[in-house]
Amino acid sequence: KKGNYDHFMQKEIHEQPNSLTTTMRGRLKDNGVVLGGLKDHMKTIRHSRRIIFIGCGTSYHAALASRPFLEELCGIPVTMELASDLLDREGPIYREDTAVFVSQSGETADTLLALEYALKNGALCVGITNTVGSTLARKTHCGIHINAGCEIGVASTKAYTSQIVVMAMMALAIGSDRLSTQARRESIIAGLSDLPNKVREVLKRDGEMKDLAESLIDTQSLLVFGRGYNYATALEGALKVKEVALMHSEGMLAGEMKHGPLALVDETLPIIVIATRDTCFSKQQSVIQQLHARKGRLIVMCSEGDAPSVCTGDSCRVIEVPQVADCLQPVINIIPLQLLAYHLTVLRGYDVDQPRNLAKSVTTQ
Ligand code: M6R
Repeated sequence: KKGNYDHFMQKEIHEQPNSLTTTMRGRLKDNGVVLGGLKDHMKTIRHSRRIIFIGCGTSYHAALASRPFLEELCGIPVTMELASDLLDREGPIYREDTAVFVSQSGETADTLLALEYALKNGALCVGITNTVGSTLARKTHCGIHINAGCEIGVASTKAYTSQIVVMAMMALAIGSDRLSTQARRESIIAGLSDLPNKVREVLKRDGEMKDLAESLIDTQSLLVFGRGYNYATALEGALKVKEVALMHSEGMLAGEMKHGPLALVDETLPIIVIATRDTCFSKQQSVIQQLHARKGRLIVMCSEGDAPSVCTGDSCRVIEVPQVADCLQPVINIIPLQLLAYHLTVLRGYDVDQPRNLAKSVTTQ
């Protein structure tokens, strides 16, 4: 079942042009999006006081990546909840809320308990899952299947990118009644249609990521700095590295750098800085300069052609990626980090598909 691949994780990373195509199939129409599962509840969603995203792990990160464009296209405040934390706090949820539950398996215990809690509090509950017939799909009022195909590797890869695309389509559908953002929506739809091709292009960086993994094989720790659309990319990239390569890794909001993490910077600690083109680009350029000034060991991810302007020092390595619509860039940017985590794991001799102590679906609290 692994075909020409050595591991499921590797196969699932390389499947992403196809899984994304399947996720979008039949849903992108002439300058609009059709999501049958949400149709009957669209009015309630548009009138909700806020949208709350709820999930765990990678699914939470996918929601975090989608938050900026959902807020932008719908004008509804979006808040984020890790399912376990919502339950620990018994955070307030109201009838006027739309609670969006994101789960690849649809069976994660904390997410399902948070769903029961939100149902009890009268919120409209929307499910985004990869598993038809799962508890999440059955118990929510409405939802969207991500249709990424079965994911076997414990590390979630293709489900992550499909979840982001589903949430982009959801934002386009909810915001479709707003004339002021029509041109923006049309450009995102064009970007979505071309996304599988761009993913195919970035997958060609596989050999380069293997080389990078070789250079990092013995390091103790790895930091990933992102912001804006790619804050989630930093968290998710770091999660992949710690989960499968069993290497300490932290994703950080670059805007928080001076509030503590800067103290860690030296010539040995590798730091990946995500600095692809969007409205945060100049801020990330200044982060890079400040890290350079402290002799940081930098690996910069930038848009194709930007290497000379983002990387001035000799010690800097670059990962160039194709540029897409700013809000879809997280789909592209996570792929080199998935490849890096994969190669690091193989080189360090760990189990890729079944990492130590982890289960694909966390069905207990
Ligand atoms: O099935 P779910 O999406 O609800 O699972 C949530 C997390 O357990 C999951 O994403 C976990 O973080 C992954 N193994 C990460 O690769």
